[in-house]
Amino acid sequence: VPHEGEDLIPQGRADALADSIVEGGYASLVLDRLVRQTCQVMDVEEASILVRDPTRWERVITVAGCGHSADAVGSRTGADKGLSGRVLASGEAGRSEDRAAVPIGWDDRVRGTLTARLTDPSRRFDKEGLARLSCLADTAGAALQHTEWRAELLSALPSALTNLVEAVDERDPYTAGHSAAVLELTAELGRCMDLKQLDLLELEAAALLHDVGKIGVPGRLLRKPAALDEREQALVRRHAVFGAGLLAAVTGLEAVANIVRFHHERWDGCGYPDGLAGEQIPMASRIVAVCDAYHAMTSDRPYSRALPVELARLELAACAGSQFDPTVVECFIDLQPAMERDGYGLLAA
Ligand SMILES: [Fe+2]
Repeated sequence: VPHEGEDLIPQGRADALADSIVEGGYASLVLDRLVRQTCQVMDVEEASILVRDPTRWERVITVAGCGHSADAVGSRTGADKGLSGRVLASGEAGRSEDRAAVPIGWDDRVRGTLTARLTDPSRRFDKEGLARLSCLADTAGAALQHTEWRAELLSALPSALTNLVEAVDERDPYTAGHSAAVLELTAELGRCMDLKQLDLLELEAAALLHDVGKIGVPGRLLRKPAALDEREQALVRRHAVFGAGLLAAVTGLEAVANIVRFHHERWDGCGYPDGLAGEQIPMASRIVAVCDAYHAMTSDRPYSRALPVELARLELAACAGSQFDPTVVECFIDLQPAMERDGYGLLAA
């Protein structure tokens, strides 16, 4: 039996995965629905999903549960305990008097279990029941695999995409470094707005790539030292949809593409490309919009001089509720003194 040590998954990725499955987000919603379905399909009142703790392989975390098991969600125990421990060790489905457990595998390893429990003492699990439970466990495995891929991909993303971003910045020398600055501001704001680890990774990727679609905009428009006419404006505006299209073609970046598509939407619905309003606009897009505008205002542009930091802040506050989500602006302004202390103000100045 190979020794499956703690360093099986690199720490950063393991943390991202652990966060995403334990503390909420997409995967926990899927798993939560899955245990409910298990109760329905198996006609039982209790079901739970245990997964090996990616940071400590000898422990398991209860990542989803319904019935009595719901109370255990988030708790950790030894991976060798009880029926679930036997299933984890053997990789085979197992039954006890009132329980049935099947392995959940992904990445060619048994990494969790799905357990159903009967509360009616006159009933027993039969082979057919075990087979049904195995089908449900396969779905759980696929969801967990997907989550892990997403976390892995996103953690490897910044280096892979830096080249692309540099290519955009080169076309538009006035905004060179803009993407990196928006990334810094956005990451800080996202953390202060309590985004989950995986959402933060997506937000950061989107911040870095928000203007990637500008590689599809004629360079002379990007460098034009005067206001753009209507036709030119329409061409520049295409960068949101164009960038989203580029990113959506990359497996795993679908959510990032979505954030990029909507980074020029306005809270009042008067933005582009789709005229979404309020909470229809993804939170991450609303965060990028504020940081993007702030950095643009505080930088020298082909058509305008940089605003002093205080004026830019007043301008953001004036546009809260019309252009921007007021909550995001409020959080950004609260964060400002700390950011300036850390040198973000200098970066923008
Ligand atoms: Fe943009």
